Amino acid sequence: MDRFIPISRPSITEKEIAYGTEAIRSTWVSSLGKYIDEFERNFAAFCDAKFGVALMNGTVAIQLALEASGIKEGDEVIVPDLSFVATANAVLYLGAVPVFADIDPVNLCIDPARMEEAITSKTRAVIPVHLYGHPADMVSIMEIAGKHDLVVIEDAAEAHGATINGKKVGSWGRCATFSFYGNKNITTGEGGMITTNDEKLYNRCRFLRDHAMSPVKRYWHPEKGYNFRMTNIQAALGCAQLERIEEIMQAKQRIFNSYSAALKGSSVQLNQTNAWATNAYWLITARMKNLSEQKRDLLIVELKKRGVDSRPFFYPMSALPYLPDTSKTPVTYQVFKEGINLPTYVDLTEDDIHFVCHHLLEILKDL
Ligand SMILES: Cc1ncc(COP(=O)(O)O)c(C=O)c1O
Repeated sequence: MDRFIPISRPSITEKEIAYGTEAIRSTWVSSLGKYIDEFERNFAAFCDAKFGVALMNGTVAIQLALEASGIKEGDEVIVPDLSFVATANAVLYLGAVPVFADIDPVNLCIDPARMEEAITSKTRAVIPVHLYGHPADMVSIMEIAGKHDLVVIEDAAEAHGATINGKKVGSWGRCATFSFYGNKNITTGEGGMITTNDEKLYNRCRFLRDHAMSPVKRYWHPEKGYNFRMTNIQAALGCAQLERIEEIMQAKQRIFNSYSAALKGSSVQLNQTNAWATNAYWLITARMKNLSEQKRDLLIVELKKRGVDSRPFFYPMSALPYLPDTSKTPVTYQVFKEGINLPTYVDLTEDDIHFVCHHLLEILKDL
């Protein structure tokens, strides 16, 4: 095969190399150093939030956000049934119970009406996920959560820079969590962040991140904490990426526009964006009505044979063997099998997009 188009690839320039090298040369290679503070400050500002807490990854960001918000064993936490499994796993780490709510068939994020139906006397929190770059309907979610006194933690791992009514994700809930894994819109290799406007929560997250060490008495730990810290080298990468985030987001929009033009008139349904939202287009979503799980998997195999990487939508988390099947979520069960993600990364060319679309349509003809 002379051509292979991966699904994702980070955009690394001389800037990332220079900042990363500088961090190493400075010898500040662990979790102290100028890049940590700068990355936290600048990323929080990018999200219109006051505070940022840099962490090892996006999964521990959710875990820490839940713990710092007082979520305890036996509490119920509502999450959308369609998400990467980290959202539910973080709830389990606290001994709490993930309760799955169905999704909106257009934006693929939690449906606020289904979320409200899932509330019981044990519900303490909700984690809306901004899936594949589209923000959840935070206006409705915040209103419902306010009525029921629920903590709201946005899982914004996939949606850096997306907006709702012109306001960025990351400052709607009590706090938000981000991932900077290598396939995310900006990356630190592995990495995560909590953003918040709540100073008390911010201080609690910083404290727990660093083994709950007393800020005034070194090596005194009044309770159990964690080592969830990000390194200065990772943060150096993050600072460089953040300086390029507008360029990266514009590239994602260009990629979506090109896919739309190339697939116009076909039966393939690409990402749909609500009028109140802007989409960060983490990954192009392609939905083919009435596709079975088997045919979808065949489509992925055939694309790969022709040099195009793709991936299936997430399985409904309630279908996974170790997670509770706590609710009926028919939209999730319909959507997950009709969707795949297509290559989406900054260096993807127009020619690459035409290559992908040509093969996609060819395969679909005979599927
Ligand atoms: C929706 C969602 N939540 C959480 C995570 C976890 O982030 P990480 O891989 O950095 O732990 C991811 C991604 O990887 C994700 O897509």
